[in-house]
Amino acid sequence: MTRVHRTRTTVGIVGAGPAGLMLSHLLHRAGIDSIAVDNRTRTEIEQTVRAGILEADSVRLLVDTGVSDRVLREGHAHDGIELRFGGVGHRIDFKGLVGESAWLYPQTDVFMDLAASRERDGADVRFGVTDTHVEDVLGDRPRICFTDSSGAEQVVECDYLVGADGSRSMCRQEIPEEQRRHFSREYPFAWFGILCEAPRSAPELVYAHSDRGFALISQRSETLQRMYFQCDPDEDVDAWSDDRIWEELQARVSGPDGFSLEEGPITDRTVLRFRSFVCEPMRHGNMLLAGDAAHTVPPTGAKGLNLALADVKVLAEVLEQAVRTGDKDVLDTYSPRAQSRVWKAQHFSYWMTSMLHAVPGATDFDRRRQLGELAMVTGSEAGSRFLAEAYTGWPEGASLRA
Ligand code: PHB
Repeated sequence: MTRVHRTRTTVGIVGAGPAGLMLSHLLHRAGIDSIAVDNRTRTEIEQTVRAGILEADSVRLLVDTGVSDRVLREGHAHDGIELRFGGVGHRIDFKGLVGESAWLYPQTDVFMDLAASRERDGADVRFGVTDTHVEDVLGDRPRICFTDSSGAEQVVECDYLVGADGSRSMCRQEIPEEQRRHFSREYPFAWFGILCEAPRSAPELVYAHSDRGFALISQRSETLQRMYFQCDPDEDVDAWSDDRIWEELQARVSGPDGFSLEEGPITDRTVLRFRSFVCEPMRHGNMLLAGDAAHTVPPTGAKGLNLALADVKVLAEVLEQAVRTGDKDVLDTYSPRAQSRVWKAQHFSYWMTSMLHAVPGATDFDRRRQLGELAMVTGSEAGSRFLAEAYTGWPEGASLRA
């Protein structure tokens, strides 16, 4: 008979991406032990190309809680973005409008910093596990059951269980269908994302509206760039040669000001589908959901990772209160507190997406209206400030532990 290894912990966390690891880190600072498990290996997570913008509060969370200050040295503070339409660039000056910046620092680096910090602190994080499932989320002893990377069967018994297991969350399915509500919106387009070896084309990010569809010019380093262009959700990446990709990207950003992209070899190409999605509530018994497990946004506002970090900041406070007082009713405060930011971010991501993308079947009226909207946003301080405030992130009501 195979031996089952049993371990006890206060908080069992399914998912050791940025949300799971940040939660485990914040709990550790509060003196609360946790175990995090993930089906992916650490290398697999490190090699996944993800988005790259952090709100100022996300940067502060990484730096002020002692995860790492690498973001300050290797990340880039962006004091604004450019919105391009009609072939002309319009800068939104974040610093001037709201006194904040957004930081270019890839999610992969956030993960690497968190994984290194958790390792330094001797945290129990199990990557590369298989056959994961959770049991008894309504009882006093919820369990995470899995086979670890050495093939041993493991059961982690905990007081609280957190599902930080991504958009296809297995934990979410534990909430009976009649007790959860899903809100979602599909989009008739996707993003074609590339990494290329080339110098920067612009000092800041460029979000471009054009008759041929949306394009985003982002960056990774002096020599590596990240760009996206709107495509069909079923687009075949193999149908796109480097030349064809450059032709399309150049056409979407070109204009009378002569702006053009620095080209170079394309080293990665992927079609990224997205949707807007929210699951309510984020608590079921002793289980709580965080990050993509509870909500996803289109990438246009770069809110996904920031929302996940904001969730776990609130969740760590709520769990700490529950552990200290033994009063589980406090868990009910998590969902409403987290959701107020979630719905703002849902609106912002939806709004940026609908303002900048070409909708299949759109009429001339729709296109002209979009241009009117862009002119309102870029042409007035109130309009620009609205965007700047949302992009750099809303202040959080409740404070962090000292
Ligand atoms: C990225 O650099 O990957 C990125 C930046 C901004 C976005 C989305 C993705 O809105």
